[in-house]
Amino acid sequence: MTLPSEMNALVQLHDGYAGTQTGPDVTDLAPFLAHETIAVPQPGEGQALIKVHLAAVNPSDIHFIKGEYGQPRVKGMPAGFEAVGEVVAGDTPLLGQRVSFFASASGAWAEYALTDVARLVPCRPDLSEVDAAGQLVNPLTAIAMFDIVKESGADSFVLNAAGSQLGKLLIALGRDHGIKPIAVVRRSAQADSLKALGAAEVIVTGELDPLGAAKAIFETLKPRILLDAVGDQFTSDLFFAMPSHARWVNYGKLSTEAPALTELGQMIFRGKQIEGFWLTRWMGQVDSARIPAAFMEIQERFVSGKWKTDVAGIVPLSQAMDKLPEVLALPDGKAFIDPRA
Ligand SMILES: NC(=O)c1ccc[n+]([C@@H]2O[C@H](COP(=O)([O-])OP(=O)(O)OC[C@H]3O[C@@H](n4cnc5c(N)ncnc54)[C@H](OP(=O)(O)O)[C@@H]3O)[C@@H](O)[C@H]2O)c1
Repeated sequence: MTLPSEMNALVQLHDGYAGTQTGPDVTDLAPFLAHETIAVPQPGEGQALIKVHLAAVNPSDIHFIKGEYGQPRVKGMPAGFEAVGEVVAGDTPLLGQRVSFFASASGAWAEYALTDVARLVPCRPDLSEVDAAGQLVNPLTAIAMFDIVKESGADSFVLNAAGSQLGKLLIALGRDHGIKPIAVVRRSAQADSLKALGAAEVIVTGELDPLGAAKAIFETLKPRILLDAVGDQFTSDLFFAMPSHARWVNYGKLSTEAPALTELGQMIFRGKQIEGFWLTRWMGQVDSARIPAAFMEIQERFVSGKWKTDVAGIVPLSQAMDKLPEVLALPDGKAFIDPRA
């Protein structure tokens, strides 16, 4: 295949960290990204070049371009952490195949992306493009965090931002393993669909006395794991309302609130714990056989319909600077970027 020398990409305008904490919302990309024509990256040793079919847009991408994520920005480098595409160059037997990948060396919001060959995930032919584009960040995190739930021996768990893509994957895992998900959302419109999906209970933070509702549910179900992507005051209050030995596993910061830890003595006298989860760290620490096994399970779950990807919209790369914020603001679905349009 003859490759072009140049490509279109959404390129980062800043280096490093911003020192701010403004959350995952974005109304204007212009302070952070520019649509530019740049050189197609060349694969070095151990790298593969991928022609991108479809790239996911996750909250982590927005935290990242704002300089508020766990790794520094690189000015002039395309953004975009995960995508699906075809391997077009590099020293790998997967040449010519469709793969999902983390764009570790040159970002996925571009016509071509670069990654380590070790990070290529071959896709089953019956896996749809949207499921393949988003099968790493959220599905692998769902599997990894559900391992925490299973290993704790819990028969129920609490999760917030439960209407997110990741929240829905976790609820379906709870349903399929008989471990009751207690879902926390901020909009009552999500309650019925989450119950239909498998949530045992739904707590709506916008309703009257959500903490009272949570306490009544905890009395019966006694959950000891709280999977938290929000990190606001209500999350802290929920944690202190949970039974002894509860674990607060924070994995996201969707709220910009700084919660007060009002009953810290529970850590001492009731054996409670607060900890963090980051997929990047988990992948470096977990038994290496767990990751390929997880991808077999992930693809099977999507193809069999146990999981699905809700799509808010697919934005052509050429229009992403203008259109992506509008699609990101739509409720209940993921945004994707199509570099071929
Ligand atoms: N630590 C890790 O390794 C890891 C890996 C993957 C994902 N994550 C995190 O997982 C979370 C979910 O990701 P996703 O891709 O599934 O998200 P998503 O589908 O884009 O959905 C975002 C969700 O966040 C909710 N939300 C936004 N701001 C909120 C706030 N201030 N308070 C409460 N809810 C709020 C939205 O609720 P509405 O519907 O009410 O707007 C929506 O349900 C993110 O925080 C992401 O960074 C972490």
